[in-house]
Amino acid sequence: MTPVQTPSIFAPVSTPAFAIRELSFFVLGITGVIFVIVAGFAIYTLIRFGRRPANPDLEPAQVYGSKQIELAWTVVPFLIVVVLFLVTARYVWGIERRAQPPDALEITVVGNQWWWEIRYPKLGIVTANEIHVPVSDTARPIPTFLTIQSVDVAHSFWIPQLAGKMDAIPNKTNRVWIEPRQVGTYVGQCAEYCGLQHALMLLVIVVHPKDEFQAWVAAQQTPSVDQAAVTAGRQLFSSLACINCHTVRGTRGNGVFGPDLTHLMSRSTLGAGATRNTPENLRAWVKDPGAFKTGALMPAMKLDDTQLDQLVAYLVTLR
Ligand code: CUA
Repeated sequence: MTPVQTPSIFAPVSTPAFAIRELSFFVLGITGVIFVIVAGFAIYTLIRFGRRPANPDLEPAQVYGSKQIELAWTVVPFLIVVVLFLVTARYVWGIERRAQPPDALEITVVGNQWWWEIRYPKLGIVTANEIHVPVSDTARPIPTFLTIQSVDVAHSFWIPQLAGKMDAIPNKTNRVWIEPRQVGTYVGQCAEYCGLQHALMLLVIVVHPKDEFQAWVAAQQTPSVDQAAVTAGRQLFSSLACINCHTVRGTRGNGVFGPDLTHLMSRSTLGAGATRNTPENLRAWVKDPGAFKTGALMPAMKLDDTQLDQLVAYLVTLR
């Protein structure tokens, strides 16, 4: 797992995120000027009209309304709001009207309590919590268009350095696109409270050089390979409830409620960022997912130590 940067909207690497930063600076500039003026008047007033020795004869000037001042403090803020609205609308429109080019990469992201299913419909790949895309160069851009869905409650898909937030709503399809210009690993997070483990619904997105991305696609497209040494574990996997929820391509397992495990060990975390994906953590996870993620919908399977060892020996072959 590559070191993770702080996901800041001020460190964009993708076209829509650059636009969002530009807009943020514009809005911050205007509101910054307003802040300086208002705070300046407040400080001036505090100093100029602070407590003075009492003088019963001195009455302050009595003001009963002023058309000019009232007009000024109504019209000027109204114009500022209109400018902010129009500029924001222009940026939103600019991002949303981008048509999907025929060679764009297509990904479907499905929010689940509490993990992300990641599908590549044209490539026949299904994975979880980890998105892989090619880098897009300015000369010949390869944007990625993401379809955002949910199977249960409202979630929100957000990778701050790549694009704005997009809600994942049951029975509705939303779209968002990215165009990362820099190879690297970026992080994201569900941005809409969706239940107990909302905080553990993390995302990793890996932006590869083009050939490296092709290699990743080829690896993900291969079905699982049977290894004679782990037959016991594989049989255990297909005889238990595992296959009701999990798919391992090339076996009887074709459940869809939980993450696809065909290339489980190619992913860096377990439980959508709950812990690192190591054989030891995997064993502890299968033993009791609740130990890492209270309320996780995967039940503890009540396996004995031998069964756990066999099952994990099999799962770690899913690379
Ligand atoms: Cu899904 Cu918060």
